[in-house]
Amino acid sequence: MFDLSDRVAIVTGGAQGVGGGISRTLAKAGAKVLIADIDIDMARYTAEAISRNSGIADALKVDVTSYEDLKKMIQTASDLWGKLDILINNAYAAADGQQGGALEVTEERWESDIRALVTSVYAGSKYAIPLMQETGAGSIVNISSVHGFLVAKKALTYETGKAAVIAMTKQMAVDYGSSGIRVNAICPGHIVTERIMETVWKNNPSGLKFFEDQYPVGRTGVPEDIGNAATFLCSDEASFITGHALPVDGGLTIQLQENFGVQQVHYYMDNTDTEMPYKR
Ligand SMILES: NC(=O)c1ccc[n+]([C@@H]2O[C@H](COP(=O)([O-])OP(=O)(O)OC[C@H]3O[C@@H](n4cnc5c(N)ncnc54)[C@H](O)[C@@H]3O)[C@@H](O)[C@H]2O)c1
Repeated sequence: MFDLSDRVAIVTGGAQGVGGGISRTLAKAGAKVLIADIDIDMARYTAEAISRNSGIADALKVDVTSYEDLKKMIQTASDLWGKLDILINNAYAAADGQQGGALEVTEERWESDIRALVTSVYAGSKYAIPLMQETGAGSIVNISSVHGFLVAKKALTYETGKAAVIAMTKQMAVDYGSSGIRVNAICPGHIVTERIMETVWKNNPSGLKFFEDQYPVGRTGVPEDIGNAATFLCSDEASFITGHALPVDGGLTIQLQENFGVQQVHYYMDNTDTEMPYKR
């Protein structure tokens, strides 16, 4: 178990989903966690659940597309607990991720998606780094995706944004390593969150099985899988790791594409009642 006692952390989008798993896991390792989420009711609910479990957490309403909110978020962590050691840039309304290719994405959609996916990470880090420099130590973890490495059709803004997050991670790691600040990215595979379970899998167990078969470890992920990776990256045991983009994907992205395609055809031939989860 990694020890984050006395560390002060912020998790954007930390109320539920991947961020919820990260908030709970950091708190379990001893960190004080500010859950910064646009859904303040859910953020409070998660903070209270952590407190009931002997952890320390607070909640703040934050929209990561607002520079002012992000400044307030950093200030609040400092006011509450006197410093900032950890920033997890996680928030994104993933349900809106797939918006078409260059011909379909409107100029407005481009601007708003890039603001949510990329600008929020730049700005959150920009406001956090001076506080970390004061103590001479800090860890920033940016939640990218396997979509930061590999691309899906008609998902221009998500794929662009998640690749940019990896580039930004490396760039900031180079700039601020000498200040004792490490910057890493996590690239999750498919994580079954509360929202995804409700909207995609609850009524389609055969589709979920089909998805699970694509993972060498035989399962899709849960939010705590990402929380565990984030906790490690923020711990002293990871002190020599920076600028890294870590796939946490049960082996999804290590597979040779042409063999993988054949494997999936065989799966379907053996399971013809499978309901395909996403339409072409
Ligand atoms: N779930 C997956 O399979 C998966 C895979 C790879 C990467 N990711 C990444 O993980 C992150 C979280 O995704 P998720 O699936 O947990 O989503 P989710 O929708 O389950 O949870 C997102 C959380 O962020 C909050 N949020 C949304 N927009 C916000 C904003 N503008 N400001 C502040 N908070 C905001 C929501 O209220 C919610 O609490 C995203 O960056 C996503 O791209 C998810």
